[in-house]
Amino acid sequence: MKGVILAGGRGTRLYPLTYITNKHLLPIYNKPMIYYPFSVLMLAKIREVIIVTNPEDLQNYKILFGDGSFLGMRVYYAVQDSPRGLSDGLMQSRKFADGDSVMLTLGDNIFFGHGLPEILKKGVETVKKEGGACVFAYYVNDPERFGVVEFDEFGSVLSLEEKPKKPKSNYAVTGLYIYDETVFEKIERLKPSDRGELEITSLNEEYLKEKKLKVEILGRGFAWFDAGTYDSFLEAGEFVATIEKKTGLMVGCIEEIAYRNKWITKDQLMKLAKNLEKTDYGQYLKKLAETI
Ligand code: G1P
Repeated sequence: MKGVILAGGRGTRLYPLTYITNKHLLPIYNKPMIYYPFSVLMLAKIREVIIVTNPEDLQNYKILFGDGSFLGMRVYYAVQDSPRGLSDGLMQSRKFADGDSVMLTLGDNIFFGHGLPEILKKGVETVKKEGGACVFAYYVNDPERFGVVEFDEFGSVLSLEEKPKKPKSNYAVTGLYIYDETVFEKIERLKPSDRGELEITSLNEEYLKEKKLKVEILGRGFAWFDAGTYDSFLEAGEFVATIEKKTGLMVGCIEEIAYRNKWITKDQLMKLAKNLEKTDYGQYLKKLAETI
């Protein structure tokens, strides 16, 4: 399975913050936003990742991740030349996927919770074994901001709707999706929505029509943020700061996950720590290399 991160779009809901800087590069406490979804792919043990972004932002991502070798990974890049929707963004990774299944994360989604790696593993195994798609739902107070999933009394999925005015449930579909290799044929068949975009919800509906959509609920032990508005952006940063200070453990620390996954050696981690030595971040990496 390969990993895809969508980091394009204009980020209009965060203007003027995103006049110049791509949304997914803005800081969530002590790291660029994209580190968080990137680390989710790493927790799923995905070692080959493609970042899809706007032409004008490509260079910044290349500076940040290079070829991925500093993490023992391979990082690739693709361009979405105009914002035609998330499914269109995913389509730009077709060549990279090369017939494999994919895990897709949206560059502004932050997940935190005990047992996340196990949940990811279960989703990956299901899609690899049975095909289809697996998405993750989370109870929210403002479902009209998201893709919304409706369940029947037995927990089967009845419908999906993108940003409905009258949501049929409080369950938002989060920006983390696992798709089998038929995903690109399905995107080819999609029609643009009223706002002229190939929606991710339309793609999920294709799987639902074939009865091949699994929805896993992320329960109350999880925190999920879509950092796309002023408030959710600020809340996500405050949340990460609180958790990191309380637990002494970092959230979304890509160097740490690479080391714990055994994708990089102690020496490599020490070198990464050295580059950051004036910061708590660097001290954290140094301590990790010394103690684990
Ligand atoms: C997108 C999707 C939506 C999903 C959300 C999760 O919305 O279209 O279905 O619930 O991401 O973050 P956007 O935030 O791009 O408007």
